Amino acid sequence: GRSHKLAVIGGDGIGPEVTDAALTILDAAQDRFGFTTERTEVPLGADAYLETGDLLTPEAIEVLRSNDTILFGAIGSPRVTPGILERGIILALRAELRQAINLRPVRLYPGVPTPIAGLTPERCDLVVVRENSEGSYVGGGSTVHRGTPGAVATQGSTNTWYAVHRAVDFAFRLAEQRRGKVTLCHKTNVLVEAGALWLDVVEEVAARFPDVEHDYVHVDAMCMHLPVSPERFDVVVTDNLFGDIITDLGAVLQGGLGVAASGNLNIDGSAPSMFEPVHGSAPDIAGKGWANPAGAGLSLALCLASLGEGEAAAAVESATAEVLADLPELSGATMGASTAELGERIASAVTDGHGGVQSSL
Ligand code: NAD
Ligand code: IPM
Ligand code: MN
Repeated sequence: GRSHKLAVIGGDGIGPEVTDAALTILDAAQDRFGFTTERTEVPLGADAYLETGDLLTPEAIEVLRSNDTILFGAIGSPRVTPGILERGIILALRAELRQAINLRPVRLYPGVPTPIAGLTPERCDLVVVRENSEGSYVGGGSTVHRGTPGAVATQGSTNTWYAVHRAVDFAFRLAEQRRGKVTLCHKTNVLVEAGALWLDVVEEVAARFPDVEHDYVHVDAMCMHLPVSPERFDVVVTDNLFGDIITDLGAVLQGGLGVAASGNLNIDGSAPSMFEPVHGSAPDIAGKGWANPAGAGLSLALCLASLGEGEAAAAVESATAEVLADLPELSGATMGASTAELGERIASAVTDGHGGVQSSL
């Protein structure tokens, strides 16, 4: 039968909780669709760091590389200075494994409670293509006189034709398979150097896709348009930092941060892709069973689709959406079930073949 090598990084806080739920869902999908996975846990995060000082070791990278795909929970801890784990593990992983694209669907599923009044599923089905390798995430910087009134910090931003072109080209290809529209989101009115490069690349790529229309929206205006009129977007292509920010907003449209999924895609075949919920380790609710595993479940669906398990992917997406639609609230003590119980509920829905939601995968 079909078998896939799967590396699992639970990470910190609610990361392992939602990842365990996703693995319960995966068990059900395997049983129903007749494939197996060989799973390897890779212990990365605050515990390992505080114990050994290790972030992303060469050994861990080798293990990850030897797998077909990676499921990731979340990393980050109040016990560690901000940036150490995030840069040293998450961003290092995305870079080491050449995960050029961060694919972040923003889809409201039928019956799911959204805080945006009047929003309907028909009006909310877009995908953010977030450049995943540069921008201000690798711009470098310097600080002098820290802790004095003379402190000065610079924080740069790197923008190459190569990486921007890779993201924009991906976005146009994706739009060809969808509703045929690409929107560039940037801040070209202030960040004129990077902005001009992005605009140039979009015009260059657009010329090769006569059937895909394109437009432009500033990132501040995007924060207004997204909740008010998401229907104007099909594929949004954007810089690493803007993509990070607007997809937390996108998550809110979908019901909350616990619902949004993502794929860090390696598109050159040089290493595995990595799938993770958009949210972080949520130390404020960790250990309580209050985390919604839907984002992890929908990330599993993206993972299965990328492995060629299309039927399983659709079933997982559909089952997750169905279970979400029945919840009174989408997070916390009033969610009506614990993280683990929701994992089991979604798994049962996969087994029973429930869920009438048309898959977008
Ligand atoms: P966060 O996403 O962890 O949490 C923000 C808010 O959303 C919190 O109130 C949290 O309780 C809630 N929330 C998050 N996920 C939820 C879920 N599945 N169900 C219900 N509620 C959920 O963001 P933060 O608080 O800014 O960051 C916490 C830590 O996580 C930091 O160390 C940060 O660097 C890290 N982080 C990691 C990732 C990642 O691993 N990819 C992503 C974002 C943040
Ligand atoms: C995310 C997170 C990460 C990012 C951080 C934790 C490095 O916010 O995956 O959205 O900025 O990409
Ligand atoms: Mn983020």
